[in-house]
Amino acid sequence: MLNMSRPSTLASWYALEQEAKQTGNRHLRDMSNNEQRFKELSRHFDGLLLDLSKQRLEPLTLQLLLQLAEECQLGTKIHDLLSGQPVNNSENRPALHTALRLPAGEELWVEGVDVNLSIQASLEKMQQLVEKIHAGQWRGITGLPITDVVNLGVGGSDLGPLMVCHALADFQPKNITPVNIHFASTIDGSQLAERLKQLNPATTLFIFSSKSFSTIDTLSNANTARHWLIDKLGDEKLILKQHFIGVSGSVEKMTQWGIAQENQLLFWDWVGGRYSLWSAIGLPIALQIGMQGFRQLLAGAHALDKHFATSPLTDNLPVLLALSGIWNINFLNIRAHAILPYDGRLKYFPDYLTQLEMESNGKSTTREGEPVDYATCPVLWGELGPNAQHAFYQLLHQGTEAVNCDFIAPVHRYEEIEDPETKRQFQDQHRLSLANCLAQSRLLMLGDAAVPKLDADQPMPHMLYRGNQPSTTLMINELTPYSLGQLIALYEHKVFVQAAIWNINPFDQWGVELGKKIALATEQALLAEDQQATSLAFDPSTSGLLNHCLTTTKQP
Ligand code: F6P
Repeated sequence: MLNMSRPSTLASWYALEQEAKQTGNRHLRDMSNNEQRFKELSRHFDGLLLDLSKQRLEPLTLQLLLQLAEECQLGTKIHDLLSGQPVNNSENRPALHTALRLPAGEELWVEGVDVNLSIQASLEKMQQLVEKIHAGQWRGITGLPITDVVNLGVGGSDLGPLMVCHALADFQPKNITPVNIHFASTIDGSQLAERLKQLNPATTLFIFSSKSFSTIDTLSNANTARHWLIDKLGDEKLILKQHFIGVSGSVEKMTQWGIAQENQLLFWDWVGGRYSLWSAIGLPIALQIGMQGFRQLLAGAHALDKHFATSPLTDNLPVLLALSGIWNINFLNIRAHAILPYDGRLKYFPDYLTQLEMESNGKSTTREGEPVDYATCPVLWGELGPNAQHAFYQLLHQGTEAVNCDFIAPVHRYEEIEDPETKRQFQDQHRLSLANCLAQSRLLMLGDAAVPKLDADQPMPHMLYRGNQPSTTLMINELTPYSLGQLIALYEHKVFVQAAIWNINPFDQWGVELGKKIALATEQALLAEDQQATSLAFDPSTSGLLNHCLTTTKQP
């Protein structure tokens, strides 16, 4: 019987399997000869270029992939997402991060409520806080203005803001009292300890950033920060009022912990953690680039949302990016994916995408609860391309694993530098970086054929480059709040499209829950007096490790 919940039963899936037997066996070197290839396999939108011409596919393959998207009713699913249907079916709620970037005045009615009204109100409150801090009017309890802000969060309450703050550090507005933004996420306290060494408690403000306001990692960092401030400054009540802002989905929990009501920024349960940088979770971003910059970030994402909603699938950038991934994962069996930005400002972009993609689509049951019989999210990792060239590109060029790579680069950089000589130096460096980006993707595609043979000598086997590694090139005109907003939204929608094809729910993360629970029981065991009794509750391997921790004394 045809099982419609699995795409693997669809006619286009079968056609793609047949296509893989043909095209999948051809070397990229042979495919790349076609003069029309770049034109046929690349698309532009609003300063973005998506180039699939180094993917192991032909225009016909793309047609079949688009048929698969049609058969999976992608158009309807996109509409459901954007109109606030409960697409997160295991938690019975919408996933409305796209609503967070709606322009003021645009309405979105969900269950009888125009959600944009509360979104705009939240942006207003955020703006007031940001302006107060930037004007030097937010004072610590000794009366000094705030100079440093530490974001305490983890996962989506850390990775998105961290990535954007780093990427857009050059966009700090003029005419404000600048504040330094720091991040601490690790449960062991090591990042926080490092930060506290350098900070002045009198001028430091903490953002306790957690959708649930109960994640133990963030809670323990926030408790440590609170004790540090009490220890240094004394008055707990005033400290909570003047040195902490809370960002969460739960007023009750923020109030219970002690966050003053006027310092609470709220967001909604229909914003997933890894999709939340557009909400008040983006407060560190707004502090870094100002509210105007933050609104530019939202505007870029909104432009991409509109493109996603209205462009035909064949010209739709997130759809094409997603489909090329589906081709690699499900038909060419390529299960590793590297993210390689050629711009140091995008240092944390691979980390951010790791959560976005793997926490969203690292699933193995369909929306109806059946096991999938096809691969879903690949193993994703990445690093700044130029640095990775000196680290793991060896494996890409000569290892045994096939890896799909995303090369990401801006075309223009350093235009704003005033001194001509300094500008020339830095632009030379940017040109070098671009050249490396284009050279590496070419070498991965062609292998040895990238370099003309000067003599008849055969290279030694250890010098061979086999090529045929697929890659996508994504170019932005220049990195700005607007283009970064586009880039992030592009990947968010790519993840959604892949989930739609695989018929999985990208908006829940049940696979992280059990670990949290059993960590608590394990902590109790580490506190226990009676080692023997403690060990009995655990498997032999874990008991052995627990006993080791409980009995090992510190070496002198
Ligand atoms: O444990 C995973 C997770 O729930 C992520 O989905 C989320 O981004 C992160 O933890 C942080 O959650 P919270 O913002 O509720 O502290």
